[in-house]
Amino acid sequence: MNNPFIFRVYKSKELFCNREKELKTLLANCTSGADTTLIAQRRIGKTGLIHRLFDEIKTEKMPVIPIYADIFATRSLDDFIKTLSDAIMNAIPEKSGIGRKFSKFIKALRPVITYDPLTSAPQIQLTLQNEEEKTQTLKGLLTFLDTQNEKILLAIDEFQQIREYPEKNVEAMLRTIIQNLNNVTFLYCGSKRHMMLDIFSGERNPFYRSTEFLTLQKLDHDVYSAFIGSHFRENGIGIDNETIDYILDWTRTHTYFTQRLCHTVYNMATDKVDVQLVKEAASQILQSDSVVFGQYQQMLTAGQWNLLIAIAKEGSVSQITARPFLRKYRLGNPSSVNRTVASLVEKNIIDESSENGKTVYSLNDVFLSRWLEEKY
Ligand SMILES: Nc1ncnc2c1ncn2[C@@H]1O[C@H](COP(=O)(O)OP(=O)(O)OP(=O)(O)O)[C@@H](O)[C@H]1O
Ligand SMILES: [Mg+2]
Repeated sequence: MNNPFIFRVYKSKELFCNREKELKTLLANCTSGADTTLIAQRRIGKTGLIHRLFDEIKTEKMPVIPIYADIFATRSLDDFIKTLSDAIMNAIPEKSGIGRKFSKFIKALRPVITYDPLTSAPQIQLTLQNEEEKTQTLKGLLTFLDTQNEKILLAIDEFQQIREYPEKNVEAMLRTIIQNLNNVTFLYCGSKRHMMLDIFSGERNPFYRSTEFLTLQKLDHDVYSAFIGSHFRENGIGIDNETIDYILDWTRTHTYFTQRLCHTVYNMATDKVDVQLVKEAASQILQSDSVVFGQYQQMLTAGQWNLLIAIAKEGSVSQITARPFLRKYRLGNPSSVNRTVASLVEKNIIDESSENGKTVYSLNDVFLSRWLEEKY
């Protein structure tokens, strides 16, 4: 029997919980041609939502070609262009009208085409030289998309990565090209909140207010609870609400962690799940992830590590430089703690969110948080 709780790539609508409201917004933006910026905490379900959107576009046969480019691993403008070309190649059928035109377009750039040994997906290697040439190629690619007879939705995941490129003025250059397109709608996605906000709402930046914002919160407790219950029960495994509440509490309703715990519980279950079994599954996960947690410790300074332990012990902290908190965990003076917090937010290890006007900090990795809480 296939495990219904997935925690890697998107599979199907049935295995995806809710997000109907966000999906509707994205569909509407796509239809009206409004570009969107999707920002949310790590592993909450941004990429999954993009794939859910693409699935909907395809099953509803909407007149839009969705293209997905994940630029997380790109380090330069060359990489960006290459990733974009690969994404286009993968999204449009080679033998379709556009596919043939695109092949011709790419061939004119004299690329080397290789095939991924694992997936046999075609990959393009371009030999670009100076920045002017790169700009022209990028402009060519996007203009190519813009001049087809179909609307295009281009989703760029981990968009903040463009800030890491060594080339100057990447944002301005991109914005200038994008501004002149009529048929391509963009969906920019990212989890580095500060950077994404700076790109899209920083007054002096080229993308300033060029998009609509969409943020993803955690899934609603009751909706998620019903989803979990039905997937166990449909597969002949009994589970009561108290046990589901235990799961959601332990994972703080954070999507990836909930999915992974449910996945493990499902694998261990025979005909019934109770809290005891959930605890065993949780401890198995922490045991297996402890290797990764050890690496975190080596990567961080003692001050950073101690602050992580303190936040983990509290679950979440709103007044991070308040005396009682600093004293309780012997964290030192407020200004140095502020610096440590900033460095951990920058590394995306702690999440900074606002609740009722207060800034709240918690660990992005719920399992690390539970592990620290237990160990120290
Ligand atoms: N609504 C949902 N219902 C069920 N599973 C989901 C849902 N949203 C996301 N998931 C699953 O949770 C896992 C993490 O989600 P996803 O990769 O989309 O998060 P992300 O926000 O893009 O994370 P990252 O910041 O690391 O890129 C994936 O396996 C995804 O399929
Ligand atoms: Mg993602």
